[in-house]
Amino acid sequence: MKTIVILTGSGISAESGVPTFRDNGGLWCSHRIEDVATPEAYLRNPALVQEFYNMRRKQLKEVKPNAAHLALAELAAQWDGKYFLITQNVDDLHERAGEGKTLGDGFALWHMHGELRKARCGVSEEIFPWDENITVETRCPCCKKPGRLRPHIVWFGEMPLYMDRIYHALRDCDLFLSIGTSGNVYPAAGFVHEVRASGRGHTVELNMEPSNGHTLFEEKIYGPATRVVPEYVTRILAGAIL
Ligand code: APR
Repeated sequence: MKTIVILTGSGISAESGVPTFRDNGGLWCSHRIEDVATPEAYLRNPALVQEFYNMRRKQLKEVKPNAAHLALAELAAQWDGKYFLITQNVDDLHERAGEGKTLGDGFALWHMHGELRKARCGVSEEIFPWDENITVETRCPCCKKPGRLRPHIVWFGEMPLYMDRIYHALRDCDLFLSIGTSGNVYPAAGFVHEVRASGRGHTVELNMEPSNGHTLFEEKIYGPATRVVPEYVTRILAGAIL
């Protein structure tokens, strides 16, 4: 039974109309990380931070999964080994493409940077499904008090989620695909090192252009995700890779 581990970044959602971060016109061109994506920013100006995530959460209603998301969901459904999808993305396009139907032993979808469609109480740490705006007046469902509910997003300086399970999967995998990420942000940018250290997994980068870590990948395929991902999934399912 072979194990596939996949890491996705904002590039896989770009052709769905979700902005990336560091491309021209990306989110970090119009917003400063230190103003909207750190715990200090939230303490300093919670309304500004909430508005940034309210805008992104609202936008989810206008976008849909693309051929790359659908191809990965097809792979998850057909793969007879273990399949772990780690996403840096906080959108729900992997779920809406059908990932998650097959969750169970040997399948997982981990949002290591959190999820736009969830909110978290800053006191109890309880997590709630959330599709509406959050403001400083919003009362959290557990404490019933305003000003405690925050986006369930991992900000810079906070610990990404599911890291123990992620490192275990990386060391145990036979194939590691890195899709649509610039390799700028750790720990995700270091995952390919973990796979190489195990001496077992074949490492593949599928991206629009070489990422910061491109030299670390044994195989590199460049082009739009909606073309290169379905093509690669077809090769995997035809038995041409593992
Ligand atoms: N097809 C494939 N790749 C694409 C496409 C596309 N259509 N469009 C863009 N890309 C690639 C870009 O070439 C770039 O390498 O996707 C990558 C996007 O890089 P970033 O904007 O840096 O996004 P990402 O790597 O996901 O950022 C990682 O940084 O700011 C934090 O938390 C945020 O999760 C995010 C993390």
